[in-house]
Amino acid sequence: MSKKTIYPAKTVTGGVAPPGDKSISHRYAMLAAIAEGTSEMSNFALAADCHSTLGCMKALGAGVEIGKTKVDKTNVRVTGRGLHGLKSSWRALDAGNSGTTIRLLSGILAGQNFTSKIAGDDSLNKRPMKRILTPLRQMGAQISARDENFAPLEIRGGKLHGIHYEMPMASAQVKSAVLLAGLFAEGDTSVQEPARTRDHTELALEEFGVPIERHGLTTRIVANGSIKLTGRKIEVPGDLSSAVFFIAAASLFEDSTLHIQGVGLNPTRTAILDVFARMGASIQMLSLRSAQGEVIGDLVVKGARLKGGVIEKAEIPLVIDELPMLAALGPFTEEGIEIRDAAELRVKESDRIAALAENLRRMGATVEERPDGLKVEGRGTGPHGKKLHGAEIEPHGDHRIAMAFAVAALAADSPTTIRDAECAGVSYPTFYEDLARVAEHG
Ligand code: S3P
Repeated sequence: MSKKTIYPAKTVTGGVAPPGDKSISHRYAMLAAIAEGTSEMSNFALAADCHSTLGCMKALGAGVEIGKTKVDKTNVRVTGRGLHGLKSSWRALDAGNSGTTIRLLSGILAGQNFTSKIAGDDSLNKRPMKRILTPLRQMGAQISARDENFAPLEIRGGKLHGIHYEMPMASAQVKSAVLLAGLFAEGDTSVQEPARTRDHTELALEEFGVPIERHGLTTRIVANGSIKLTGRKIEVPGDLSSAVFFIAAASLFEDSTLHIQGVGLNPTRTAILDVFARMGASIQMLSLRSAQGEVIGDLVVKGARLKGGVIEKAEIPLVIDELPMLAALGPFTEEGIEIRDAAELRVKESDRIAALAENLRRMGATVEERPDGLKVEGRGTGPHGKKLHGAEIEPHGDHRIAMAFAVAALAADSPTTIRDAECAGVSYPTFYEDLARVAEHG
């Protein structure tokens, strides 16, 4: 396992273009595989997770071509098999580390006329699946799971019927699994969320030609017997959740000016920018445009004195993937960071609450760990607050923990080593190169 040493920096300057959005790439890859014709996707995510999805769609019979050179690797062509044209895979589908792959694809597999097995790596096989089994079974799917909650899943596809599902939790993955199963169901399928979550599935379905009705927190797919998806030429926006590591890095140093180019700014993802703004960060949005219903723009981030604050309630599902970075910024803010109502963090790629508390303490921070969050002490309001020291970081195989601490390490007063650093590749394989290009060590 590779280790990476991160040295203290003086400032963060220049430009960076984060790779294609992971959430959106998954959805485009899946929809392209059940569409008619070929979809050409540019800026497709480099993330290993999205390549797990491409591998599954290929195993199910879609044509998948990925550009060969480093520059070309983000150009992906998927030739679809039509809504009813997927074929069974002779081997178990491998979702790797990716919760989005297994949960969304289960919705599609439930509507097929064959049986599929799907599983992932050790981390994924420990993550809860009951949340999708419940609605998919209500729609008529037969699914067996280890201990009724975990992968491997065996999904016996068949005739589905539409349901109205009131989701007990705010999860875009659960919402998407039900909507995707709804494509194959007889009768309408609707989902009601308790709080808003990312709407990339809804936008992607519309883009591929499936009409969606949306009223408040309810989304409906109308089964009028003529659902048909058509292959498209599509551009994937840069991943805001990856850009956040650079927003944080630039904010840490007074003299920073960083241009972050081509970032997805879908309003169901930008709550993190509101959190940064509330904490006093300096972020400007430029050159907004739209592509396939998604908003894309550039960000200019300057160094700022971050106040810190509390993140809780309905804001949590909207910033769920950015909480590791926010928590790791806590010791560099004046008042610290408190995260509440976020027990969901314990069932992500790692137990993120435990992993954050452990590694923050390794760097010398004061942390209170709670069942549903954590409180990280700030540096106070004086000019010479407490600094963190370098440490050896254990990311527990979790990409966002590795990247959050690589950023925190820039502002520590001695070097930090990240164990198993390449786990960042799950979402951002070129992360350390990109960070090294913009971090100046003086
Ligand atoms: C995702 C939804 C979120 C998020 C995950 C990606 C998606 O998960 O944490 O990284 O692409 O739909 P939940 O639906 O479990 O909140």
